[in-house]
Amino acid sequence: MSFRTNLPTRLAPSILTANFGSLAEEIAAAEAGGANLIHLDVMDGRFVPNISFGPGIVAAVRTATSLPLDVHLMIEEPERYIGAFAEAGATGITVHVEATRHLNRVVQQIVESGCRAGIALNPASPIESLREISPFVDLVLVMSVNPGYGGQQFIQTSTSKLRRVRKLLDEFNPTCDLEVDGGVDVHNIGDVVRSGANVIVVGSAVFNDRRPVAENLGRLRQAAAER
Ligand code: DX5
Ligand code: ZN
Repeated sequence: MSFRTNLPTRLAPSILTANFGSLAEEIAAAEAGGANLIHLDVMDGRFVPNISFGPGIVAAVRTATSLPLDVHLMIEEPERYIGAFAEAGATGITVHVEATRHLNRVVQQIVESGCRAGIALNPASPIESLREISPFVDLVLVMSVNPGYGGQQFIQTSTSKLRRVRKLLDEFNPTCDLEVDGGVDVHNIGDVVRSGANVIVVGSAVFNDRRPVAENLGRLRQAAAER
């Protein structure tokens, strides 16, 4: 049975594995290749082992594209930085349910900052933690790898989790976006879309040495449309 939604499928290239020496060109190539959003992975070395970048890079990316900026905060106490990322030009800000004590308050903060509010779940976190907050958010992100690094392998049970989250959202917030992040490639993008995901983060499947960015996006788009 397919859980494909009527919400449009949107591809969100993550710049984590892009060449930061020519970031503006990488983003322009993604935009020309049909990217719908740019996904920015912010890591603090505490919530996740890795450190990536902060609001300064988000502001630089803002000047390089008119696409919406989908900012994924993998940081402890995200409430301390919502203002900074909103000011840097984020369109949407996603925080982890595991990273804050007062999730409802952080979601309110994001909405008040003028951004779309998203919440993310680590692979081992139960979907039950979404129930109370889901009516207040614009997007739910299901992590399909343990956050921290690009280029990891997709955790197979994530498709079943996506179906269960989509079912919960259909009950409590039917227009809410369902995003999947981690290890998505041409081989599994059809499955995640058929499992109800409509915002698809693609990092190493887009920014790699194998093919040009636009060609990678074209192949992903085609595979995502397969029924
Ligand atoms: C993982 C990040 C992802 C990652 C995606 O912590 O949230 O956005 O960069 O990269 P791939 O698609 O290579 O798994
Ligand atoms: Zn991400």
